[in-house]
Amino acid sequence: MPQRPYVVDKMISAKAIAARIEDLSDLIEKEFSDTDKLVVVGLLRGSFVFIADLVRELKLDVEVDFLEASSYGNELESSREVRILKDLRGGIEGRDVLVVEDIIDTGFTMKHVLGLLKSRGPRKLRSIALLDKPSRREVQIKADWTGFEIPDEFVVGYGIDFAQHNRNLPFIGKVRFTD
Ligand code: PRP
Ligand code: MN
Ligand code: MG
Repeated sequence: MPQRPYVVDKMISAKAIAARIEDLSDLIEKEFSDTDKLVVVGLLRGSFVFIADLVRELKLDVEVDFLEASSYGNELESSREVRILKDLRGGIEGRDVLVVEDIIDTGFTMKHVLGLLKSRGPRKLRSIALLDKPSRREVQIKADWTGFEIPDEFVVGYGIDFAQHNRNLPFIGKVRFTD
């Protein structure tokens, strides 16, 4: 299917994101102040930019691991069926874990991943999402920390794609169709 023409309007600047990450990292440091080595888990692919900036702000000893869960693929609609395409490299039993996500929309992805990781017996399991679209929620889930609550707009950039485009934009933008 040919792509409808669109432009991307800036919504949250790189500077605003960086400032918010500084605040969030202070809260995370407090929560994990007694942690020996925190396992920071990024959900591929969308979280790769956020996790890179977040871990560099954390004055904690961290291990970085990734898990790939996909529900959208190249579709605009959530499949509501979350598949694990790539599992963690390391075990998390008895460990302190922070799940890092770019955006919570229907909530299916985060709910599935948190359920899966909880079943592995971590000592402490927390989650953070840069963006939250509460108006779209279909399952009850909320991250422990959220960067920005946003309205129901189609957003791209800072790791987030539109059919695998725009992940490399340094800011969060919203898609505006021009046809
Ligand atoms: C997107 C986004 C979140 C998830 C949020 O991932 O990065 O992981 O959808 O949607 P939900 O709350 O409705 O589940 P996607 O499945 O597009 O994979 P990607 O991260 O590789 O782009
Ligand atoms: Mn994702
Ligand atoms: Mg996607």
